[in-house]
Amino acid sequence: MIGKLEVVADDTALAQAAAERFIAAASGAIGERGRFNVALAGGSTPKAMYALLRESPLRERVDWEKVSFYFGDERCVMPDHPDSNYGMAHQNLFEPLELTEEWVYRMRGEMDPVDAAGEYEDLIKKMLGPSPAFDLILLGMGPDGHTASLFPGTLDQIQGDWLVASIYNQKLNSHRITLTPRTINAARSILVVAGGANKAEALAHVLTGPREPDLYPAQLLHPEHGTLTWLVDRAAAKGLAE
Ligand code: 6PG
Repeated sequence: MIGKLEVVADDTALAQAAAERFIAAASGAIGERGRFNVALAGGSTPKAMYALLRESPLRERVDWEKVSFYFGDERCVMPDHPDSNYGMAHQNLFEPLELTEEWVYRMRGEMDPVDAAGEYEDLIKKMLGPSPAFDLILLGMGPDGHTASLFPGTLDQIQGDWLVASIYNQKLNSHRITLTPRTINAARSILVVAGGANKAEALAHVLTGPREPDLYPAQLLHPEHGTLTWLVDRAAAKGLAE
């Protein structure tokens, strides 16, 4: 298995552990380099973590003005659309923290997907250098073993040197913008947070099954120099040997 597995009891413990890891990564990055560059996960799992981070006592443990927020992926919708990953973070974290959003860099899902991917690639190169290395990339994992917007059967849409890609998901009949495995694996720390019984089969295959990343794209997570942690609850870990 690539990376470290941490199993916690339930969804409450999952959110708490994810929040603590966020704070630790932020403190480390700000202490060493004066800023914390984090790419947020999409989907619904991060909501419970945000609910803890935006309130005392955790709120005070992060120097929020020194955090730059990026995104791991985005749906091709307006930022105020219910499906927008930026919209979820804005509503559940940025707004409650009363952030000016000067340090929030969203993928512009409202644009043409190819243009939006190119624009975001230019942005992260401008902000983080030609080989961007995020301090932390938060990811979720779908029941089909996708992560970010790297879905089964879509990896052939990504060129090897791309840092950001636009993906068309035939099953969902939707376009997405996503960081590529190249960018994700360049991160100092990758944290995959997955909870619930519906993730158990995919997680077991991703972590212990045969290597078939086109079917299970989360198997592409393999940091070059950084760390990879799979933070899961007992229900999601059910398919793993005790
Ligand atoms: C997205 C995500 C996606 C998500 C997983 C898990 O835009 O949907 O980036 O990769 O993290 O599908 O989603 P849940 O947290 O809702 O289970």
